Amino acid sequence: MLNDADSRLPFPDRPILFFGGKGGVGKTTMAAAAALDLAARGYRTLLVSTDPAHSTADVLQVELSDRPRSVAEGCWAMEVDPEREADRYIDAVKSRVESAAPPRLLGEVYRQIDIARVSPGAVESALFDRFTRILEDEGEDYDRIVFDTAPTGQTLRLLSLPELMTTWIGGLIKRRRKVGALAQMWKNVAGTEAADLEQDPLLRALEERRDRFQRARRILTDPARAAFVFVVIPERLPIWETEKAVETLSKHRVPVGAIVVNQVLPVRDGDATEDPFLAARRERQAGYLARIFEKLGDWPVLRVDLQDSDPVGVDALRRIPVYEP
Ligand SMILES: Nc1ncnc2c1ncn2[C@@H]1O[C@H](COP(=O)(O)OP(=O)(O)OP(=O)(O)O)[C@@H](O)[C@H]1O
Ligand SMILES: [Mg+2]
Repeated sequence: MLNDADSRLPFPDRPILFFGGKGGVGKTTMAAAAALDLAARGYRTLLVSTDPAHSTADVLQVELSDRPRSVAEGCWAMEVDPEREADRYIDAVKSRVESAAPPRLLGEVYRQIDIARVSPGAVESALFDRFTRILEDEGEDYDRIVFDTAPTGQTLRLLSLPELMTTWIGGLIKRRRKVGALAQMWKNVAGTEAADLEQDPLLRALEERRDRFQRARRILTDPARAAFVFVVIPERLPIWETEKAVETLSKHRVPVGAIVVNQVLPVRDGDATEDPFLAARRERQAGYLARIFEKLGDWPVLRVDLQDSDPVGVDALRRIPVYEP
């Protein structure tokens, strides 16, 4: 067993950890257990849930909001609501534009911004934006930040987003500059005062966001600073999905720190009279574990046994043993 405060850290020792994996495999449970373990080792740790289902509060059995609150000694937790982040971002952009755009055009500008709010990727990018801010702002106050992310698909989109977003925003900025330059030329010809392009609030908002995403990407792809931990259960589909996800992350140069195989049927010594059903399941699991080692053995693999009850609450989470198989 590895997660005794005196023994070495079972999870990768990086300032920023992400927990991801297929739905229901135990990401929230493992992220919370890891955060509590880090705190017990003396690191000031912040656990951040970006999962819209808000299960971190259930697992820890405390109420959480989008401001960090203490949940145990040295451990704080918060939950970020993606939809609210998207609304907040749109409101902020609108209020910046309000003071700068000619009132006559404001209706149309707002309409454009509202379309952006419901277009694909808006929620993910707002969430990514927030999470970048957490890395930058809270990074000062905490030694470790643990992100409990949503199921694989969304997480991967989120992680590949900096690249998509920089391309997308780059295009928008170019278009915006072109329009601005034309307007300026026209104004020069017409002899009216030239608009100051650098003061364009939409352009500024886009550029700031692009710069933030680039900074986040640098953090995410730095193996000294961040690691992605995959939680998987010894079943066919989750393993297959994890193999694909690990491949995608590697393609985006996001460092994979560990694979946690959760809900492994515990081995009992001298269990000669084992129920044939359980014996059969255990055998299947052994096959899947072998597959995990074959396909994912390049990364550190950790094992967590299936517990006899749901590990909820700080005490139960602290007692979850993490093994090296
Ligand atoms: N090792 C374990 N032994 C027993 N129960 C477990 C174990 N790990 C997780 N569970 C239970 O399995 C359920 C799913 O766990 P959890 O909520 O952590 O998964 P998740 O991957 O975060 O799910 P979601 O994709 O919905 O966010 C919970 O009821 C949790 O208490
Ligand atoms: Mg969860």
